[in-house]
Amino acid sequence: MSWFTNFLTSSIGQKVVMSLTGLFLIVFLIVHLTGNLQLLAGDGGKAFNIYAEFMTTNPLIKTTSYLLYAGILLHAIQGWALWRQNRKARGPHRYAVKVNRVAGTNSFAASNMAWLGTIIFVFIVVHMYQFWLQMKLGDVQMVTYDGKEVANLYALVSATYENLGFVIFYVVSMIVIAYHLLHGFQSAFQTLGLNHRKYTPFIKGVGKVYAILVPLGFAIIPIIMYLNQ
Ligand code: HEM
Repeated sequence: MSWFTNFLTSSIGQKVVMSLTGLFLIVFLIVHLTGNLQLLAGDGGKAFNIYAEFMTTNPLIKTTSYLLYAGILLHAIQGWALWRQNRKARGPHRYAVKVNRVAGTNSFAASNMAWLGTIIFVFIVVHMYQFWLQMKLGDVQMVTYDGKEVANLYALVSATYENLGFVIFYVVSMIVIAYHLLHGFQSAFQTLGLNHRKYTPFIKGVGKVYAILVPLGFAIIPIIMYLNQ
């Protein structure tokens, strides 16, 4: 197994881990957004609560969730390790060195990926404490639909977004996520060597659309729920 640990700790290995975990998180965000948009269904939370019950009890999805937590941690740890190595490699003149600019990417995002990632990590910790942990601790009211009792997660989310401070926190965090994705999406494909004269501009285009639409989709949820109360 030493070749594997050697690979994981090498600079290219760390970058490959960053790309693969990043792509996994990109897929997760689409699934999470699709489920969360049911919060806006206007049915008092029925569709969302039934969906959340399925997502938290289905064995296959529960296993994928553990992979997700590991993916988030690995992505953050490797990201911080790479950041430290780059700072060390640049030495005392690091402030004089310009970040390589890749055509078609956002240069603010490219130069600040570690900072943006750190803010997102803090967001995920607060977010999981607010919703996921309360649900795991069983600190959520129950509601009965068609004879079946499920957790009323909708009530928890809706109570959270009565607070304007949390609405602002979520919206600002989504702007940070948008910047992180503006560079991260296409960078993941580049690291994996998926470069092609014909397809790379397409990947960059999809990356930009994704980086704007997905955080926008998440941001409208607290805004609409706040305004509807
Ligand atoms: C308005 C935006 C969002 C809302 C309303 C929301 C809501 C929720 C709720 C209710 C849960 C607990 C139930 C469940 O596991 O599905 C949850 C879990 C989670 N959320 Fe969010 N979320 C939002 C945005 C985000 C974003 C942008 C991220 C990542 C950057 C994220 C990451 C997670 C993670 C990692 C979990 C744990 C998932 C699991 O256990 O499988 N969420 N979210």
